[in-house]
Amino acid sequence: MFIDKNPTPGKLSLLCASSTGLILLLMGLIMGLKTIQLAWLLLITTPATYILTRYLTEKFLYRKIKLIYKLIYQTKASPQEEFFHTHILPKPTLEQVQVDVEQWASQQSDQLEILRRNEKFRKEFLMNLSHELKTPIFAIQGYIHTLLDGAIEDQQVNREFLKNAAKNVDRLCRLIDDVDEISRLESGEIQFNKEAFVIQDLIKDVFDLLSLKAAQKNIGFDFKKGCETPIMVYADKERIREVLINLIDNSIKYGKQGGYTLASVYNTDEKHVLIEISDNGIGIAEEHLPRVFERFYRTDKARSRDAGGTGLGLAIVKHIIENHGQSIHVRSKPDIGSTFGFTLELFSE
Ligand SMILES: Nc1ncnc2c1ncn2[C@@H]1O[C@H](COP(=O)(O)OP(=O)(O)OP(=O)(O)O)[C@@H](O)[C@H]1O
Ligand SMILES: [Mg+2]
Repeated sequence: MFIDKNPTPGKLSLLCASSTGLILLLMGLIMGLKTIQLAWLLLITTPATYILTRYLTEKFLYRKIKLIYKLIYQTKASPQEEFFHTHILPKPTLEQVQVDVEQWASQQSDQLEILRRNEKFRKEFLMNLSHELKTPIFAIQGYIHTLLDGAIEDQQVNREFLKNAAKNVDRLCRLIDDVDEISRLESGEIQFNKEAFVIQDLIKDVFDLLSLKAAQKNIGFDFKKGCETPIMVYADKERIREVLINLIDNSIKYGKQGGYTLASVYNTDEKHVLIEISDNGIGIAEEHLPRVFERFYRTDKARSRDAGGTGLGLAIVKHIIENHGQSIHVRSKPDIGSTFGFTLELFSE
């Protein structure tokens, strides 16, 4: 009991009192005190030592411990809480204090790590954003100044320059819209309104919406064989429409002339549905695959910009799917094609 790894003020005081008692007993024996004298001596000093040590340890030790707790939890207790903590709750053992402090230290270092990562993320985002803004703004500036410097009178170029300036204004608006959407998704500001709907019907809607764009590249849309049986999912229809527009739009933008876009829908288990959008387009090299969902990441910046892309499409898609508590993945091979697959909740009545 005496050599305790987990001392409490009670145990410490008992240790002091019994050691003092033992020393006094030895000294009394050496000095030849009578038994009755010895008994009285022990009867008075041992409890007195116990009470005094206990009082002092509680007063000084726990005052320091309380200070540590106040510091690490950064709380201010009300008088009632203070009374409860001081008189009713069991006092923490020193080992418990050590565990609590270590836990606090590790929480602090985790939080610091998150803050550092967020800071890096924020810096990168700002750098990328200003870079993305610069390109269209400088182009607009160039066209407008050239027009003002006299090109406006030149019938051969004036309309062309204005058209190019307008194209860059549109690009700027798309960029702002996407950045706005991504930040609202991240801040949790966007409410998800889930409903039951047939996923194939939504895919057909998006095929119709993008059919003109696909026709320009002679790209055909279809469902994979065996995937036509209607499957009901439970998700935010408008957000999933946005996901499908992004993925199918990519399959056209990065698809080959005369190629195809295939949609497949699988009932993977009683809870999930897997939706895949595949193309036989340019594909993505292996080194780019883990990064395509990052904001502003593009495998080929020039090609993506020419196609009017902001590089935020897949980042938005990933946010939407993850906000549904689901996941998205990609498989791809250069010159063979790409498949983007995501899961959704199966609707069950
Ligand atoms: N189906 C695909 N085939 C080949 N590469 C793709 C495909 N989908 C996406 N990528 C690559 O991933 C990058 C990121 O795609 P993302 O949709 O985020 O941006 P974007 O299409 O360039 O622009 P945005 O979608 O914002 O208009 C693209 O620039 C492209 O390099
Ligand atoms: Mg895209």
